[in-house]
Amino acid sequence: MIISPLAVLLITSSTILWLRPQILLHNSSLDVRRKPKESREECGSCSDSVSLHTRTKTITPYHNWETFSADYEEMLSKFRVFVYPIPDAFVGNESSPSARIFLPHPDPLNPKIGNYYSEHAFKLSLLRSSLVTKRPDKAHFFFMPFSINAMRNHPLVHSESSISTFVANYVSNISSEFEFWNASGGADHFFVCCHSVGREAASKHSGLHNNAVQITCSSSYFQRLYTPHKDIPLPQVWPRLDRQALNPPNQRTELIFFAGRVQNSGARQEVINLWGNDSSFSIFSGHSSMPYEEGFRRSRYCLHIKGYEVNTARVVDAIHYGCVPVLISNYYDLPFANILDWSKFSIIVNQQDIPLLKNVITSVPEQTYLDLYQNLCLVRKHFRWSTVPESYDAFHMTAYQLWLRRGVHRVAS
Ligand SMILES: *[C@@H]1O[C@H](CO)[C@@H](O)[C@H](O)[C@H]1NC(C)=O
Ligand SMILES: *[C@@H]1O[C@H](CO)[C@@H](O)[C@H](O)[C@H]1NC(C)=O
Ligand SMILES: *[C@@H]1O[C@H](CO)[C@@H](O)[C@H](O)[C@H]1NC(C)=O
Ligand SMILES: *[C@@H]1O[C@H](CO)[C@@H](O)[C@H](O)[C@H]1NC(C)=O
Ligand SMILES: *[C@@H]1O[C@H](CO)[C@@H](O)[C@H](O)[C@H]1NC(C)=O
Repeated sequence: MIISPLAVLLITSSTILWLRPQILLHNSSLDVRRKPKESREECGSCSDSVSLHTRTKTITPYHNWETFSADYEEMLSKFRVFVYPIPDAFVGNESSPSARIFLPHPDPLNPKIGNYYSEHAFKLSLLRSSLVTKRPDKAHFFFMPFSINAMRNHPLVHSESSISTFVANYVSNISSEFEFWNASGGADHFFVCCHSVGREAASKHSGLHNNAVQITCSSSYFQRLYTPHKDIPLPQVWPRLDRQALNPPNQRTELIFFAGRVQNSGARQEVINLWGNDSSFSIFSGHSSMPYEEGFRRSRYCLHIKGYEVNTARVVDAIHYGCVPVLISNYYDLPFANILDWSKFSIIVNQQDIPLLKNVITSVPEQTYLDLYQNLCLVRKHFRWSTVPESYDAFHMTAYQLWLRRGVHRVAS
């Protein structure tokens, strides 16, 4: 059966309604008693300097923590994902580039993987999680475990065009070998990618781009093959497992930090032209006199400015180091925005308002900055991958997005 993209959109948007607080809040029978509290342990390192007692209950980075955590707990107990086995043609020498397309990455923390870590981290976490089932008849979703990043490094596949051909062949292979793809037209299938070379991966298979869920770092409303509400934004995260304490606000001596090349980005060029010499800004384009990470540690606000893509690892770098992200990246479908209220831990500036940038940031009241900082501490865990998946980490947050899109189709048994 082929289902139209419109049908998928309608179905997924009705599951998304589920999250709307006003719908669920009316129902007092919803059991939230045993649900975990909005965790504040992350803030141990930074709360001393922030007047926590002035925080009211309404200052929270979540749209609705109670609703989310209740549904999340249900996901943990019920959600199941089937992972397709490695195709026969690719079994064999584990270190050959072909096998690597499907195998979990043997060394995902290798700095060379850097920016594309999230793709590998998702697969490793999934395979180590309790969500995997060997029984396809019990699965809500089917994972196609090819790695776009590994294809990019494959001597024969590496180009955008070969990647989309490879992926189309893969889908056509699994749809003749297994019954699951045809049963839903691919609507309960997903793949993951974090490199821009994967943007067109689904372009040569209509079911893949119309129905299947794409979990991607390049989640732009302007991307031809990205469908908001169907597809899922993935945070781009530099590999790191360290859990250093944050620098408190009073040790942040710089106001606004940005480091990065201009690339082909008009937005970056404009920020540099207008603010490059302003003493409130520490902008490093090209050679940086302040090491990248020090900049995030020492500053109150860290700019993320769209480059080739709407996404870069800077957003999560800022979150990791406790620097309030200032996002100048029009049309970025932000990760987890249905759960997290980004306006409570970041500042979003329209590209058109770059001339107002300094004014926007310097007019933030001190207490508001402290609230943003405190909320940043709370959301930090959601943007972190773990060797073994942890509660509410980037893996579970992403899996939760799939959970919200579940139940569209089931194979008749
Ligand atoms: C609340 O949920 C209960 C049990 O699921 C249901 O019987 C009731 O109709 C719901 N109430 C509202 C207002 O939706
Ligand atoms: C496995 O593949 C790698 C890379 O293609 C190659 O260098 C190595 O010789 C192969 N090993 C075997 C046992 O075939
Ligand atoms: C698809 O199946 C053919 C025939 O078995 C095989 O040669 C090819 O490598 C497979 N391609 C993919 C991407 O799985
Ligand atoms: C799924 O549909 C395709 C195209 O109609 C067909 O070639 C294939 O054999 C079907 N798969 C199964 C498992 O029946
Ligand atoms: C910033 O200052 C340097 C050194 O004085 C100067 O060369 C450059 O043109 C200035 N840039 C802008 C955008 O004003």
